[in-house]
Amino acid sequence: MARHPFLPLFSALLLVTAITKSEAFSKTVKSRFPGHNPEKLTHLHFYFHDTVSGDKPTAVVVATGPNTNSSASAFGMVAVVDDPLTVGPNITSEEVGRAQGMYSSSDQKTFGLLMALNLVFTKGEFSGSTVAMYGRNSVMSKVREIPIVGGTGAFRFGRGYAQAKTVRFNTTTGDAVVEYNVYVWH
Ligand SMILES: *[C@@H]1O[C@H](CO)[C@@H](O)[C@H](O)[C@H]1NC(C)=O
Ligand SMILES: *[C@@H]1O[C@H](CO)[C@@H](O)[C@H](O)[C@H]1NC(C)=O
Ligand SMILES: *[C@@H]1O[C@H](CO)[C@@H](O)[C@H](O)[C@H]1NC(C)=O
Repeated sequence: MARHPFLPLFSALLLVTAITKSEAFSKTVKSRFPGHNPEKLTHLHFYFHDTVSGDKPTAVVVATGPNTNSSASAFGMVAVVDDPLTVGPNITSEEVGRAQGMYSSSDQKTFGLLMALNLVFTKGEFSGSTVAMYGRNSVMSKVREIPIVGGTGAFRFGRGYAQAKTVRFNTTTGDAVVEYNVYVWH
């Protein structure tokens, strides 16, 4: 292939562009972002209702893999959820938000879910703010820990962790109630 006569020039230009861009890639922001107090640690406590049964499920399986049904850990299952979050363990207690997103069975040996959920709050000072939860949920463990990787509104720049503990699991229906303690720096 013939070498383009201007190739060295183009390369030099690309290099210059790359250097200029990397100089502007990041900078330290000294002043606080308006309305942002990074020193705040918020503890959220609520119950997550994962209803898979009945005619109004809030968690629906949308995909399975070729071996999901014969897999002891349901490997390959993907569910989309819009689960209510309430102040108490009873589903009739006050709803404070929803857990929206999906989880998938991602472990071939034991039950292990990848959780990719937004916690969307609808009550009180956090109404309209969201927290993004992403990580592994080893559902057979008594207490599971899942990272909080971000947030919006009051939870901008949010980071932290969630601890999940199953309080009720109906082995007939598959419905679960899970207690969540979430800590977010924001
Ligand atoms: C697995 O079982 C579900 C529910 O019975 C069914 O909808 C799905 O098609 C099955 N998947 C395969 C790959 O057989
Ligand atoms: C939930 O609350 C309703 C009334 O608000 C009550 O009838 C029901 O027994 C409660 N369920 C549980 C599991 O506590
Ligand atoms: C599980 O759900 C079924 C169907 O709704 C119900 O009859 C049963 O009492 C439930 N079991 C427990 C332990 O709550």
